[in-house]
Amino acid sequence: MALTSCCTLLALITGASIMSGVLSYNECTDTHLSIKGGNYTLSKGFETNSLLTYDCPYGYYAPVQSRRCLASGKWRPLPKRNLECKMVKCPDPMVFEHGEVTPPQDRYYVNDTTTYECFSDYKLYGSATRICKANGKWSGSTPICSRNTDHCPDPGIPAGSRRTGHIFNIGEKVTYRCEGSLKLIGPKERTCKESGLWSGHEPECQFDYTYDTPEEVSEVFGSALKSSLTTAELDPNEQEGKKIRLDKGGNLNIFIALDASDSIEEEQFKQFIEMVKKLIDKISYYEVTPNYDILIFATKVTTIVDIKNYYTGNAKSLADVMKDLDDFKFGEKENDSGTNIGAAFVKIYEDMSFINTRNKKQFLNSSNIIIMFTDGESNMGVDPKRPVNEIKNFVYRNNKEERQKFLDIYMFGLRADDKELLNEYATLDNEGKHVFVLDGVEKLHQIFDDMIDESTSVGLCGLHKDYNYKDDRESTIRQQQPWLATITVNHADGLPSKCLGSLVTPRFILTAAHCFKFGDASHGISVDIKDGQTTVHKVKRYIPHPNYNSTLKKDAGIPEFFDFDVALIELQKDVKISVEARPICLPCTKEASGALKLSSSGVKCKDHERVLLNNEFEDANIMSQKREKKNLKIKLGASRDACIEDAKKAAGITAKNAKDIVTDNFLCTGGINPETDHVACKGDSGGALFKEQYYRTVQVGVVSWGVEDICKDEGKTVVNSREHTRDYHINLFKMQPFLKKYLGDDTKDYAPLTFLE
Ligand SMILES: *[C@@H]1O[C@H](CO)[C@@H](O)[C@H](O)[C@H]1NC(C)=O
Ligand SMILES: *[C@@H]1O[C@H](CO)[C@@H](O)[C@H](O)[C@H]1NC(C)=O
Ligand SMILES: *[C@@H]1O[C@H](CO)[C@@H](O)[C@H](O)[C@H]1NC(C)=O
Ligand SMILES: *[C@@H]1O[C@H](CO)[C@@H](O)[C@H](O)[C@H]1NC(C)=O
Ligand SMILES: *[C@@H]1O[C@H](CO)[C@@H](O)[C@H](O)[C@H]1NC(C)=O
Repeated sequence: MALTSCCTLLALITGASIMSGVLSYNECTDTHLSIKGGNYTLSKGFETNSLLTYDCPYGYYAPVQSRRCLASGKWRPLPKRNLECKMVKCPDPMVFEHGEVTPPQDRYYVNDTTTYECFSDYKLYGSATRICKANGKWSGSTPICSRNTDHCPDPGIPAGSRRTGHIFNIGEKVTYRCEGSLKLIGPKERTCKESGLWSGHEPECQFDYTYDTPEEVSEVFGSALKSSLTTAELDPNEQEGKKIRLDKGGNLNIFIALDASDSIEEEQFKQFIEMVKKLIDKISYYEVTPNYDILIFATKVTTIVDIKNYYTGNAKSLADVMKDLDDFKFGEKENDSGTNIGAAFVKIYEDMSFINTRNKKQFLNSSNIIIMFTDGESNMGVDPKRPVNEIKNFVYRNNKEERQKFLDIYMFGLRADDKELLNEYATLDNEGKHVFVLDGVEKLHQIFDDMIDESTSVGLCGLHKDYNYKDDRESTIRQQQPWLATITVNHADGLPSKCLGSLVTPRFILTAAHCFKFGDASHGISVDIKDGQTTVHKVKRYIPHPNYNSTLKKDAGIPEFFDFDVALIELQKDVKISVEARPICLPCTKEASGALKLSSSGVKCKDHERVLLNNEFEDANIMSQKREKKNLKIKLGASRDACIEDAKKAAGITAKNAKDIVTDNFLCTGGINPETDHVACKGDSGGALFKEQYYRTVQVGVVSWGVEDICKDEGKTVVNSREHTRDYHINLFKMQPFLKKYLGDDTKDYAPLTFLE
């Protein structure tokens, strides 16, 4: 009875939706949608274009990952009965030769552990213990038992594969295939080279659900890219040392192609754009200045950044490239919904031909990197293999052996893709993996954040990380503001006081002059920056701005005058630079030009000001004593006049002219227009007023004083401004001579900054 009533009801509902056809004609239904043991989410309910995504618990996978609701009211792919989450397996490790795998099992699931031992006479290379991971891969590296009697080392047999070829001398080949439903990712064939190395890299056998974790991608792709970008000589003994090497006079051309077909959500596309910006940012840390071609493809190809401009004297600055990326609108895709990978490669080929026509000799020595992100298989246009082969032939010029280093094609796909197709387009004979299968675009930013180990790039000011991956709040916060310093001053007359400051070089902290009192001794001052060695740094001396004099206008109705309220603290020893301790960028330095993506030559201080303080309302931030980030807008032009007018409302001030109280040396924030700012609180003094530009931080001011301290009343450290609670910050563009005198001094035992005109 109960059963019957249930099903009658169901039928009724289905019937109703058909009958009210005009209204909900296109709605998809939930018939057979559910997954046993898991969940699904819908991006737009049962409306057309809604994306369904399945979710299974750790160690399980959904045999179908997603469905799209089509305009016809049908799901693609069509749901079938009895979908269930399945256990993730790792490929068969029993292919191990000259040794033993324990325990022997028919199948290996997540967390199963295997150990590898060689027969006597053989030596074990690779991992002796491996654990099956949730992404369907074994941890560690392929174990190999070898006697190493041949010219090349035994290249091993990756789990799940079969290898033919047992002789490893010069010119000998080994070939691989994968068992059952496993897909081969990487080269099918490897050749023993004269150098004693194998061509290409070790292939993998992957299930459809196998994917690369962000950590794996950032490590492998990051190190490949890093070596492409450094011109270091290759070490013949190092398997991983070499990638593309830039010959003198050659260029680096980077082609980035992004899939924007109908299977991509706007939100995902934004992630693509963020990721490209991050990639360009990372690359800008290196000495090379690549030429970029950035394409979007669906049915048609759209150029965002045109590489041809670099060869016709119209090269854009990186800042403009970033802006073009920001401004790109993810349009309607009514007639542009296909996935035309072929057209994207054709466009890249055409652009390469153009460059070659312009300067044949230069193109000959230029390295070309193609990076494609796609989430679907090519479903229209030419077969991508054709233009890919044209590109390869064009660069190789019948001399693949010599010239393959000039071309790298990296394919990034999602795990629902046809991996074997991605594998056909990539340059597999090059060293290092060229095909990456991701679990979703959401984690892309993590890949590119982690990708190039910034801790080694000591010279880079303002570098920081955005995201919290490690679930370690302390460390994450330090990585977000690695320049933030806390200063404690034990005054000669008793009570200690605290200020904030910013690390501006490994030796110097910038802060406010009013943090110190006449007669403070340097041994009474300590600076907190956790740099891996110490937290508390000793101070050699502090240097207030020579023009700072708080009592200067005491008799003119200004009891405390804050003009030139800046000071430098010289530490006894350099702070050790790491991801958690690194200087902020100061405007009008060469170091900041890099952060602002302004080309290195001919850039003036004025140009920095134009980029950083240009609009009537400029977004900026300050930090609280508790390391909370506050948002505010710097008021410039006419808005500044109104902003400084409120200075007259500060307690004790009787001066009539606001400009006497707040000189041109100040920047003004606070108030409720155009939005409500956060206000500065008492302990925020001396901290940086900063702007984040392209993942780098540039300081534009020093927090000095405010009309009223409303934080104490509210008992919080992050408080919204009221209409007239304004804050005044020393403008660093006005403090250049002082900063340059100490920070630009190249005659001392510390590294100076290079100041611009
Ligand atoms: C199912 O969805 C809930 C939230 O709606 C989530 O907490 C849970 O982890 C999901 N379960 C699986 C197996 O994905
Ligand atoms: C596998 O091990 C991890 C970490 O020890 C644990 O969190 C997880 O629950 C285990 N998963 C399964 C399927 O046993
Ligand atoms: C290209 O590289 C070769 C050697 O790698 C060099 O001899 C030649 O001068 C370079 N050509 C140009 C135009 O830089
Ligand atoms: C799509 O194509 C149809 C027929 O060619 C045309 O009528 C329509 O305006 C196009 N839509 C867009 C958004 O371009
Ligand atoms: C500050 O200004 C006052 C008033 O002009 C003056 O008397 C005093 O000497 C100045 N202090 C310093 C340190 O220059």
